Amino acid sequence: MSVGEYKPGLEGVPATRSNISYVDGQVGLLEYRGMQIEDLAQQSSFLETAYLLIFGRLPPAGELKDFEQKIQIHRRLKYRIRDMIKCFPESGHPMDALQACVAALGLFYPLNSNLQDPEYIWGAAVRLLAKVPTMVAAFQLMRQGNDPVQPRDDLGYSANFLYMLNEREPDPLAAHVFDVCLILHAEHTVNASTFSALVTASTLTDPYTVIASAIGTLGGPLHGGANERVMQMLAEIGSVENVRPWLDRQLERKGRIMGFGHRVYKVKDPRATILQGLAEQLFERFGHNQAYDIALALEQAVEERLSEKGIYPNVDFYSGLVYDKLGIPTDLFTPIFAIARVAGWLAHWREQLSDNRLFRPTQVYTGEHKIPYVPIEARS
Ligand code: CMC
Repeated sequence: MSVGEYKPGLEGVPATRSNISYVDGQVGLLEYRGMQIEDLAQQSSFLETAYLLIFGRLPPAGELKDFEQKIQIHRRLKYRIRDMIKCFPESGHPMDALQACVAALGLFYPLNSNLQDPEYIWGAAVRLLAKVPTMVAAFQLMRQGNDPVQPRDDLGYSANFLYMLNEREPDPLAAHVFDVCLILHAEHTVNASTFSALVTASTLTDPYTVIASAIGTLGGPLHGGANERVMQMLAEIGSVENVRPWLDRQLERKGRIMGFGHRVYKVKDPRATILQGLAEQLFERFGHNQAYDIALALEQAVEERLSEKGIYPNVDFYSGLVYDKLGIPTDLFTPIFAIARVAGWLAHWREQLSDNRLFRPTQVYTGEHKIPYVPIEARS
């Protein structure tokens, strides 16, 4: 391989063949299994979408019901996982807590089956989808010194998560909006965390390790962690009047505008458009947020300054405003992204196993050769 073939960040280099999702960043198209994200957001539920992603087709009614019921049964955490969470420092980031909890599942459910066994895949998928939201909610309550709230069997996936988090049954609109957010975040081709999942899966390790490695990768500020930074940025800007002076200063010092820009999208991310609509529904129902006015003014100002570089709002720009209105603490935004993305990671795990080859890229060595070893007393 010549140095000329090296692509930093593997930009544009295909890492796999996949029929899970498709993005056309020039026109703002996102499809899961060939279905447009707008249709799924309007008509599907998160668990149905998760099934579609993982198993490749929309489930018939009976299969969906069975899937939902199995997930409901597996929502509870083993007491030892709860005890483990109790030992975590309350100042720790919830993404680190979630990664540790998911990795720990491998201790309780060791890989003692054929990874290709459809029953094993089904069981692991159900367990992960079921338990990840409970882990996020449990850490949130336990870091405040409270006992975790047990899942409620009569509530759907999203309503139950909000219930476990806030210790009260959510408004149906809030539960619906949250469910749509999960659909929007469920999958997005081979991004950094999915690539991480693929590499880990290719070693034929267990699915808990695969998902734990993806969660670790999602947390960074250039990936899923950006949604937290958006809220901090809007708070720092403080007022609509300060948007342009703030943007000028930020661009002058070559700072990034969080929630803007994307490696693939060169137009507004279609998920940002849907999330903006959801935010507006929430504001109409539960009251307006000044941060939204700042966000709108910032979107306009960034468009004027950066649209020629193809920089528009990405999925993280409006998701924070939605979660904030739902009363979710800022540092849970990325764990919520992870709750949704478990579906996409599992789909890629399954696809990788169906035609596995161990990832083993090469490198362009830039060091020296045949350097003589210098004994410690002779070093300057
Ligand atoms: N604010 C200001 N300038 C930007 C931004 C931004 N958010 N994004 C890109 N640019 C500029 C960058 O400075 C560069 O300009 P120049 O060519 O003059 O040096 C040009 O655009 C290309 O930047 P790049 O870093 O080569 O582009 P990339 O494809 O690596 O960037 C990105 C993708 C997401 C890392 C970047 O847009 C960014 O840092 N955005 C802010 C963080 C963010 O919102 N991340 C969430 C991404 S979407 C959800 C997810 O993946 O989890």
